[in-house]
Amino acid sequence: MKFQAIKGTRDILPPDSILWNRVEQTACDVFATYGFGEIRLPIFEQTELFARSIGAETDVVSKEMYTFESYDNVRIGHPQEMVDIVRANEAVKEAWANNRIPRTDENCLAIAILHQTFDSIKDEGAPALLRFLHGLHNIDFGQSLSLRPEATASVCRAYIEHGMQTLPGNVKLYYMGPMFRRERPQKGRYRQFYQIGAEVLGQSDAPAIDAEVIEMLLAFFEKAGLSGATLSVNSIGDKNCRPQYIETLRAALLKVKDHLGPDSQRRIETNPLRVLDSKLHEEQAIIEKLPRIADHLCDACRAHFAKLQDELKLRGIAYEINWRLVRGLDYYTRTTFEIVAPGLGSQNAVCGGGRYDGLVELLGGPPTKGIGFAIGTDRLILSLQETGKAAAAKSLDVYVAWMGEKAYAPSVTLARKLRDAGFAVELPPEEMKFKKSLGLADKLGARFALIIGEDEVASGQLTLKRLADGEQSKYSEAALLEHLRAAR
Ligand code: HAM
Repeated sequence: MKFQAIKGTRDILPPDSILWNRVEQTACDVFATYGFGEIRLPIFEQTELFARSIGAETDVVSKEMYTFESYDNVRIGHPQEMVDIVRANEAVKEAWANNRIPRTDENCLAIAILHQTFDSIKDEGAPALLRFLHGLHNIDFGQSLSLRPEATASVCRAYIEHGMQTLPGNVKLYYMGPMFRRERPQKGRYRQFYQIGAEVLGQSDAPAIDAEVIEMLLAFFEKAGLSGATLSVNSIGDKNCRPQYIETLRAALLKVKDHLGPDSQRRIETNPLRVLDSKLHEEQAIIEKLPRIADHLCDACRAHFAKLQDELKLRGIAYEINWRLVRGLDYYTRTTFEIVAPGLGSQNAVCGGGRYDGLVELLGGPPTKGIGFAIGTDRLILSLQETGKAAAAKSLDVYVAWMGEKAYAPSVTLARKLRDAGFAVELPPEEMKFKKSLGLADKLGARFALIIGEDEVASGQLTLKRLADGEQSKYSEAALLEHLRAAR
């Protein structure tokens, strides 16, 4: 049997990982200058969190999530204690209501107790209680969990859970890490992919926040070395104007239904906005003639969008308006934006984001405004590599070619000292023939080979060989450090 990385997942190896680290570190540095702090989130959450936030009808939730049941162990305790546990356990009630608990006699008994009929069976005495306990064993305490397909929902969950609305000012958080979607893998599209994202949560929906978030994103791209990226923005209205627009759009779509592909036909019912996202060549001319959201925004949304554009101009940010930019997740209101980058083929969206006022409330939190974005790190890295911005591997400074038993201990000590001083050092773990050792130093791309034999140990004079031209000289330990520092 040959083990391989699962389809849609991959290993990121050196030297690529050097570029990954550099990019992620740049994000931390830039985001910090805008007052953002890092939040580290769990990789899995309740399925319901994603379904409710992203929308049960979206592709992400309906087709692409990695979902599994999780079982907690049931601890058997004193009967009355168990009864209390069951009575208090919402998961059990919910599992029973949804037929996830097999209707065995024992389980029925346990549930009967849950439904406050404990007194009627108590008189039966121990046998009934024993059966009850046995029943508890079979109860499915499972809950449905999913690997996160994105992190905005988790950030909102954490915002509520930690009562962050009491914090002063806007709460500004960023995150980075893997996300999971069961999509068809291709260049720039993976099942485990990585995002760098940021969210602003608070009481204000001022367009200046949207513009500053976009400014930060572009400042990061610039520092990371991304060139040729283009920004598109749109407003998709809010709960006052969008429902009406959707009906207008649906009516228009029904008139041209027969000319649309099966996906778009289905979406007329489930989510007409998503038809605007279609890449299908035959549909483009039809879509261009559909009613546009810009003509259906309410006054407040129209003003918000106009102000956003002023704020972008104020910051010298170039953008285009794409009225078809609706995004694939249901939580958006008003501002949406996307950035495409060169060198990526069809999966060229390197970042997507937007406003999601109302999401925190939908998840049971206080009324809160929110905006954020997520960058596809894999795609950002690909674009950097395709445009020649790949990082070079950190070179090996010193290869310690030691020979003879007496040379080993001093070599270990010296290697540690050189590493402490910040040099990259390779120390062979086993003795090697001198020629072979130097050959390996060459192959590893070392700048210097430090030759330590028994003679060198006795004299305290170490031989340093520059591998580029073979030049070599002898140094005391102190002089060696000096010389290496100067050569850095
Ligand atoms: P999203 O558009 O679904 O938005 O994803 C953001 C970015 O993640 C995409 O633009 C793309 O670069 C990358 N991405 C998505 N799926 C894949 C994949 N299968 N393989 C590689 N890269 C991928 C969100 O996730 C929102 N949470 C963004 C957001 C934050 N909105 C507000 N706050």
